Amino acid sequence: MGYSQKERPNKARVREYALAKGQLERAAKCVVLLPAEKGHDIELGLKNGLLNRNTFVIAVEKNPIIAKNMGKLLSKNFNNFHVHAGPIETLKLDEVGPCKVDYAFLDFCGNLTPQIADWIDQYSNQFVSNNVIHFTFKAINRKKQFQNSIIKTCPESINNIDRHLENCRNNLVSELFTNGKKNQSQYNRMSNKTNIIISIKAICVALQKTIDREIIFDRIIKYRDTTAEMVLISVTITDKEKTETDIEKIFFDYDGKVGYNSQIRYKTPPKSKGKRKKYLPGREVYKVEIQHRTRFNIKTRKDLEKPAVKAALTKYANEIAKILKMDPVKKRRQIIAGINRSLTVAGR
Ligand SMILES: C[S@@+](CC[C@H](N)C(=O)[O-])C[C@H]1O[C@@H](n2cnc3c(N)ncnc32)[C@H](O)[C@@H]1O
Repeated sequence: MGYSQKERPNKARVREYALAKGQLERAAKCVVLLPAEKGHDIELGLKNGLLNRNTFVIAVEKNPIIAKNMGKLLSKNFNNFHVHAGPIETLKLDEVGPCKVDYAFLDFCGNLTPQIADWIDQYSNQFVSNNVIHFTFKAINRKKQFQNSIIKTCPESINNIDRHLENCRNNLVSELFTNGKKNQSQYNRMSNKTNIIISIKAICVALQKTIDREIIFDRIIKYRDTTAEMVLISVTITDKEKTETDIEKIFFDYDGKVGYNSQIRYKTPPKSKGKRKKYLPGREVYKVEIQHRTRFNIKTRKDLEKPAVKAALTKYANEIAKILKMDPVKKRRQIIAGINRSLTVAGR
């Protein structure tokens, strides 16, 4: 099975996020990609201006048959490139390429193994600061598997693993608990989701631990590719000093900023002629839902009173109201009501 839009629609959507326009001021100078046979990421990167003929492309492929043809694909589009035919773990990133890497889409679609983690650790200083690196991994969906993987990935670093696990408890399940267990199948479904979320957090912890620089989690998207649960994790490496509270910060970032509904949601246009939902012009049929509370970094009701938050809410409400052709005051009221509701659910 290939990776085209038709064969793997979710893969295509994730690729669109990872290679979205405007991430760089100009085309990258040096990139690391895992383009596979067809190089769909290369095609999109060129289209969106992240890459151009002068970009130095380091293409990595562990499958020798796929790697054999990669040179042809690259020579059509780039003046300079390097094909690493082997696992990324054996790529000496400091020895190839004319400069540090300023864009990377490491589309593994597999587990974050200790070997990959070691490679990231060894070469994290080869990535330019303040640019985004996108990773895709398989979201390990068994708690036991997750524990083993995280223990293996960063053996001595997680002393308080139980506490972190406790911190990872998923909203979905806690909501079920507070509302009472309604039915077993719903409960099972929710618990399965919980484990995936925990696994995703584990991957974030492992990344944070292996990258020996401060990183910010920009986006975490859970998606299903064929039959497996996957995750896209976009991080920015910064120059700030790493602190002991970083692990806590990951959970906070994940809980507070991205939200559990950060998976790709489908919004298929309604079929019936009845009551139609309003679709914003130009909006795709899918989107990442980010709660308003998380968008504006609102943790308590007091935050709603902050002048900067008030101003940002007004600006945002005005923009949305204009698109929807509705009263901006009403839109603002709706948004605030939504935030208040979500604060109530979260018990704040
Ligand atoms: C998901 S595909 C890439 C798809 C492509 N980025 C796209 O957008 O269509 C991942 C490719 O990377 C290769 N790969 C996965 N893990 C690897 C690793 N650790 N080292 C080298 N290649 C790897 C796989 O063999 C596969 O061809």
